[in-house]
Amino acid sequence: MTVRTVPVSLAGRSYDILIGPGLIDRAGELSVALLPSRRVIVVTDETVAPLYGDRLVASFAKAGIAAATVTVPAGESSKEFAAFGRLMNALLDERPDRKVTLVALGGGVVGDLTGFAAATLLRGVDFIQVPTTLLAQVDSSVGGKTGINTRHGKNLVGAFYQPRLVLADTTVLDTLPRRELLAGYAEVAKYGLIDDPAFWDWCEANGAAVLAGDAARRTYAIEQSCRSKARIVAADERETTDLRALLNLGHTFGHALEAETGFGPDLLHGEAVGAGMAMAFDLSAKVGLCPPTDAARVRRHLASVGLPVRLRTIGGDNRRTWDATRLIEHMRGDKKAEAGKLTFILANGIGRAFVTREVDEAALRGLLDTAIAA
Ligand SMILES: NC(=O)c1ccc[n+]([C@@H]2O[C@H](COP(=O)([O-])OP(=O)(O)OC[C@H]3O[C@@H](n4cnc5c(N)ncnc54)[C@H](O)[C@@H]3O)[C@@H](O)[C@H]2O)c1
Ligand SMILES: [Zn+2]
Repeated sequence: MTVRTVPVSLAGRSYDILIGPGLIDRAGELSVALLPSRRVIVVTDETVAPLYGDRLVASFAKAGIAAATVTVPAGESSKEFAAFGRLMNALLDERPDRKVTLVALGGGVVGDLTGFAAATLLRGVDFIQVPTTLLAQVDSSVGGKTGINTRHGKNLVGAFYQPRLVLADTTVLDTLPRRELLAGYAEVAKYGLIDDPAFWDWCEANGAAVLAGDAARRTYAIEQSCRSKARIVAADERETTDLRALLNLGHTFGHALEAETGFGPDLLHGEAVGAGMAMAFDLSAKVGLCPPTDAARVRRHLASVGLPVRLRTIGGDNRRTWDATRLIEHMRGDKKAEAGKLTFILANGIGRAFVTREVDEAALRGLLDTAIAA
């Protein structure tokens, strides 16, 4: 199968996203011309390192590039401040100079962390993304948002810092747990709902095959997602207009659900986004913006692939008693809330999302009460 290329056009910071099978084994030859020196440090996590670490290092070696590796624990805890400090010291232990390139091999956690490390190591070195989760391949590795967490919330310390190259090897998704794959799929479907109704139709017809491992459809889904994200990022790199905010479809609701479940294993980010998108369309229908049939389609497709769109199915053995007031409080604490005003991405229909800060609180509360009771 051929490798697909999606360019991200950002003047002096432009780069390519390459998508296809076997790219980990070709990372050296594909990146060598971009590197300021033949020296890289791979940052990965303890789950991904034994799966793909050696192959990546071998591919650099084959191209005459020396690669050291720093491994961090798997999971969100590696984005804590203290963990970031440990990573920076481990990187400095390698005695890097400013021509070193960091390589993020892993999911969104490794990507966000490594990107921020690259932005700050010796005041900034280059980095390459080798995303290994579906979420990272279609979302977090593209667009240059990097950062870490604090006790005040997620991603509150960070930088816009673009990678030099993104290598999305589609075959690594074969080892990804199904639940993680599904969570990433919610972000794929999101691009259809934002502004691409034809892609949403495609997702309805092909989503199950994407999740079942159909290689051609998987590649297509990743490519279309990256094209959408690249287009939005190119037009609004730093979210200075409302355009990039459209990527937060489902995220105001989703963030509240994640906050209520402690950002823990009971609800993955992508799962929260899936439930949140269903709620955003339900709210849009409830206030008369969107045809109820479109909201029903959103809910039906996400549920049909196996995403937990009903609140009562969330949390496994730790099911919760949801409370509308608490959920609204979490929404106010979201960093997207401006001066206490809630920001929502609503829609006039599938593929017709827009940003609004004018949501009637009674309608919101009514929608949440209905979702909790359903
Ligand atoms: N920068 C952005 O624009 C952006 C966008 C969305 C999300 N994010 C961030 O991304 C993070 C979530 O990313 P994620 O969902 O990729 O989670 P993750 O990085 O924690 O990966 C999920 C799990 O899968 C494992 N894993 C990764 N690749 C694997 C593979 N190929 N085979 C088997 N296991 C594998 C990881 O070790 C981890 O345990 C969050 O911190 C979120 O804030 C950032
Ligand atoms: Zn997201």
